Amino acid sequence: MPVDFNSPLPVGKEREYVLQALESSHISGDGPFTKKCHALLQQWLSVPRVLLTTSCTHALDMSALLLGVQPGDEVIVPDFTFVSTVNAFVLRGAKPVFVDIRPDTLNLDESKIADAVTPRTKVIIPVHYAGVGCEMDSIMEIAGDRKLRVVEDNAHGLLARYRGKYLGTFGSLAAQSFHETKNFSSGEGGALIINDPSFEERAEILREKGTNRSRFFRGQIDKYTWVDIGSSYLPSDILAAYLYGQLEQREAIQGHRRNAWHVYQAGLKDWAAQHDVQMPFVPDYCEQAYHMFYLLMPNLDLRQRLISHLREHGIHAVFHYLPLHLSDMGRRFGGRPGDCPVTERVSDQLIRLPFHNLLTGDEQEQVIEAIQDFPF
Ligand SMILES: Cc1ncc(COP(=O)(O)O)c(C=O)c1O
Repeated sequence: MPVDFNSPLPVGKEREYVLQALESSHISGDGPFTKKCHALLQQWLSVPRVLLTTSCTHALDMSALLLGVQPGDEVIVPDFTFVSTVNAFVLRGAKPVFVDIRPDTLNLDESKIADAVTPRTKVIIPVHYAGVGCEMDSIMEIAGDRKLRVVEDNAHGLLARYRGKYLGTFGSLAAQSFHETKNFSSGEGGALIINDPSFEERAEILREKGTNRSRFFRGQIDKYTWVDIGSSYLPSDILAAYLYGQLEQREAIQGHRRNAWHVYQAGLKDWAAQHDVQMPFVPDYCEQAYHMFYLLMPNLDLRQRLISHLREHGIHAVFHYLPLHLSDMGRRFGGRPGDCPVTERVSDQLIRLPFHNLLTGDEQEQVIEAIQDFPF
């Protein structure tokens, strides 16, 4: 039996809730299931406002709009991240300034941020890679001293904490992903976390095509109209129904992933030490989200050979981000080889093992055995 990298299949009452949504008279956005998701996420994170979006990408797009990012602004981003972290701000005309990552957690290297700040810098966008917190004390201090905004790309890190505080609750705004590869999913989906309440009203408007329709539905005004720029960032309630079924399984999902993560760690640590393979590092003051399990092979050739070797054993393992500064777009912003050496190295070395909510102990055993049989 093949071992899939990911499985987005239901784990709880997702089917039942989707049917309920279909049978209700409300399948557009902001229906009953969307409201339930909002309430649950607000309660979990103790934040003033959460708005479901159609993706994490769109939550990031909304952040850039809310912060009034414009041509001439610069934003500080880790070089090792998904394109959406950067695109959201580039779409508004900003210039991305790529900063290298820490070699241990693979997160934005906070010691390199101050040098990247210029009078044009507007936002710092930490990405909590693999759901392990960035050094938020330092990042918030750097931002506070220079009056910069922080938007957390928390696509991987729902329910993880840094020094006891939930990721996604540090910046003025944060973006979550509910894409099918995430711990909790609706196929495609996301959420904007609004920690600074001054953004609440405008966020509703931007998300509803630039209209004050949300206020109208709450009965606060008697007709709604075009009041600002905006787009359609709200998901159908059918997707919210699926997501609610997943969120309800918080304990089961996170428990399963925690266990699976430790099975890999225990099963591979001696092998890794023998072969100069780096395992994930989680500082003791970080509670991780158990979003992924990765290994850093000694070099690109061994990483590629391990992917092929696992594929021959029916196991689907994958690499991850390519250095953004060396992409076609990154080069247009001045990226050159050697600018972010840690990202350049890690991008070649990293392999992600199968990791999902339905991964079985037998499958993990297969993966671990196949890795231990890998001819170095
Ligand atoms: C760090 C990061 N940010 C943003 C995204 C985009 O998420 P979505 O597919 O929900 O737009 C991803 C996608 O995996 C990601 O890894």
